[in-house]
Amino acid sequence: MSENVFPVPTTVAETALVDNAKYLAMYERSVKDPAGFWGEAAKRLDWAKPFTKVKNTSYDPHNVSIKWFEDGELNVSYNCVDRHAASKPDAVAIIWEGDDPKDSKAITYGALKDEVCRFANVLKAHGVKKGDRVTIYLPMIPEAAYAMLACARLGAVHSIVFGGFSPDSLAGRVEDCASSVIITADEGLRGGRKVPLKANVDAALAKFAGVSSVLVVRRTGGDVAMQAGRDFYYDDEAAKVSADCPAEPMNAEDPLFILYTSGSTGKPKGVLHSSGGYLVYASMTHEYVFDYHPGEIYWCTADVGWVTGHSYIVYGPLANGATSLMFEGIPTYPSASRFWDVVDKHKVNIFYTAPTAIRSLMGAGEELVKKTSRASLRILGSVGEPINPEAWLWYYNVVGDGRCPIVDTWWQTETGGILITPLPGATALKPGSATRPFFGVQPAVVDAEGNILEGATEGNLVLLDSWPGQMRTVYGDHERFVQTYFSTYKGMYFTGDGCRRDADGYYWITGRVDDVINVSGHRMGTAEVESALVAHPKVAEAAVVGYPHDLKGQGIYAYVTLMSGEEPTEALRKELVAWVRKEIGPIASPDLIQFAPGLPKTRSGKIMRRILRKIAEDEFGSLGDTSTLADPGVVDDLIENRQNRR
Ligand code: PRX
Repeated sequence: MSENVFPVPTTVAETALVDNAKYLAMYERSVKDPAGFWGEAAKRLDWAKPFTKVKNTSYDPHNVSIKWFEDGELNVSYNCVDRHAASKPDAVAIIWEGDDPKDSKAITYGALKDEVCRFANVLKAHGVKKGDRVTIYLPMIPEAAYAMLACARLGAVHSIVFGGFSPDSLAGRVEDCASSVIITADEGLRGGRKVPLKANVDAALAKFAGVSSVLVVRRTGGDVAMQAGRDFYYDDEAAKVSADCPAEPMNAEDPLFILYTSGSTGKPKGVLHSSGGYLVYASMTHEYVFDYHPGEIYWCTADVGWVTGHSYIVYGPLANGATSLMFEGIPTYPSASRFWDVVDKHKVNIFYTAPTAIRSLMGAGEELVKKTSRASLRILGSVGEPINPEAWLWYYNVVGDGRCPIVDTWWQTETGGILITPLPGATALKPGSATRPFFGVQPAVVDAEGNILEGATEGNLVLLDSWPGQMRTVYGDHERFVQTYFSTYKGMYFTGDGCRRDADGYYWITGRVDDVINVSGHRMGTAEVESALVAHPKVAEAAVVGYPHDLKGQGIYAYVTLMSGEEPTEALRKELVAWVRKEIGPIASPDLIQFAPGLPKTRSGKIMRRILRKIAEDEFGSLGDTSTLADPGVVDDLIENRQNRR
């Protein structure tokens, strides 16, 4: 190994679940005998009816079908709650840390069971039954976990919409899956600022009917409008029902949740996950990737609005009977020491966050870290985007004091759980590499034609076979599922990511190769931002690309052509930024807007994004062939007025 390599620390090796020899043996078995391997792994869950078939999957583009444990029955809520409530009712399931450092509480597995049952009974009273879709638009409060598990208990399918999304984005998602119930809060609280969740729901519902009940959890007690007959305070409703609710046995392939995510084209798609395979995979990866030992305090800083929150705050940890910390606030409030203060306050052993947070805290300086103890920390994790070696080393040396392995976990909303990652006791680390595949995962690197490349190489990342946590379909549009993931390279799942594999077989994810950008670990389709921009009356045309951004990983760069007669002013630039925030949400705000009288197009009218990307990167010296452009002259103007000058 030529690069900087960090071996497994001895203290971690002493107690680790898996060492390198065991990893290699388990990995080999998992790919040679997937049915045997996953059949045994699935015993980690309690099945109401045991399965007899393990794997039945096909990546043939004419017949894409993914089924795991297909004749088994189980209930996800039972597995995450009841069995632990029975064996260790006083063990803490969730530690909740509020936005205000004075606000925190512990919820035991016994208490969790009561809360989840009560929530399920409220949903039932509002007509929710097996198979119905329920939209959850909540801040990071324990009720978010109760609501998810309550849906799972009844066999209802939840669709969580991140609290930072606008009324329009919320409306689109509610409508797409035809939810009849929305669960929200009066207001959210983040960094001392209020988020008007209920008002956003009202604005969304002004656009279409079809929602019969809105359940409102009181978070701030703020004064919000309540529409009689439609809106109900959750605590009023909960007071009317019992804390007893049976868990409905579900088929392993019954859907557990839908989560909308951005792609390279069109509207966000509803990624559908199953009950059995998903939970087996989320729980197994949670245990092995974080080397979770019973009694440890585990903290994932994600929001439940993203897949990381689903799999690694709620389902994986709770299935394992772990103690999962849920944080309502932000890393910089009341100060940029908050993460480390919380680590010390709750004696956190395992800490999982995103590179964007690391980079911003790095900027705040080492002192804010060093004044805290962090002695409880054992394992660190990273997710959401490539972690640059500089941030990796700071995380390792400053946060982890050089003694905690970093698991750089590569995965996607679609994959349900972590696919490429180190295991703390097994894998020597290289800063910036997600290292090796998890059990059962068969990555390959292909060229543009889909030829599998061997050895040390670079290309597009595909997966050759299924794993239990894989998404099953795009909700309501199986054809889009097939087209998006299985048609680029026949017989393979295409991830949309590029990667390099080194001579040690380690994978280095280089980022998206499609029109998806990754802004602070949040996935964004450039097409979505473009359609928001062209919806503005003064905009004729827009093209959006990503560009390297020191803190966010990628920033959003928008080229905008105005309607004739409109003036390209600073005021209009600000107006357009505000417009996109309103249309999609703050995470989609363009960082740079360039007014462009013309965009580079081929003679057939296709925008040449390659050129726009290069100019946005301030790399206009290497534009490549521009001879196929309808009007090569536009390029000079674009270069002259470029907004990113390094
Ligand atoms: O480009 C990869 C990047 O995030 C994409 C998936 O985004 P999303 O579905 O929102 O899920 C994020 C949380 C799992 C991937 O296609 N990505 C995620 N993790 C990593 C990463 N890129 C590099 N290294 C990672 N560890």
